[in-house]
Amino acid sequence: MKTLVIVAHPDLNASRINRAWIEALRDRPDTDVHSIYDAYPDWKIDVRREQRLLERYDRIIFQYPLYWYSTPPLLKKWFDEVLERGWAFGPGGDKLTGKQIGISFSTVGTADTYLRGGKNLFTIREVAAPMEALARYVHADYLPPFAVHDAMHMTDERLEESKAAYLEHLARAMPSEPAAAG
Ligand SMILES: Cc1cc2nc3c(=O)[nH]c(=O)nc-3n(C[C@H](O)[C@H](O)[C@H](O)COP(=O)(O)O)c2cc1C
Repeated sequence: MKTLVIVAHPDLNASRINRAWIEALRDRPDTDVHSIYDAYPDWKIDVRREQRLLERYDRIIFQYPLYWYSTPPLLKKWFDEVLERGWAFGPGGDKLTGKQIGISFSTVGTADTYLRGGKNLFTIREVAAPMEALARYVHADYLPPFAVHDAMHMTDERLEESKAAYLEHLARAMPSEPAAAG
């Protein structure tokens, strides 16, 4: 299965986790990385180029640091522009139908803060609900999110573990049922 990992990190030079994950992905067969902040420093997204790129892959993973429970802003712009009616949805908009879509993100919050009733109120699956809704709207199969927490205390050992866990996730993740309502 050919996988495209779309990375959205505003400053990969200052990143620890997302940069390490990109390194880990280099060893994965059939996997390419596309860093949109590097591709579009002026934020002028080449929509046709992005669409043609996506069409070549069976699985698309969006990888980013969690920013205010959401994606960094260039990725939001990318969604707004690339996922066009007639391409991603609506009449003739079937180009992502049947592909797999997944997300991988890092957080500064610890795992226990991403629980119902925890400091961040919601679970990771709930925080990522807009991404799940997006994937299902374009008729893609949604993979369970992969998240690594506690970025402030990321020792070299934990970083290595997170790289291995990420590769394991990509090797094994299967599409999930829609999140239960309520
Ligand atoms: C603008 C901004 C918003 C952030 N929002 C969140 C957040 O909502 N939840 C959280 O756990 N961490 C948040 N963080 C922390 C980042 O997710 C964290 O620094 C990042 O995942 C570390 O990954 P990196 O080493 O690849 O940069 C935020 C950081 C910034 C700069």
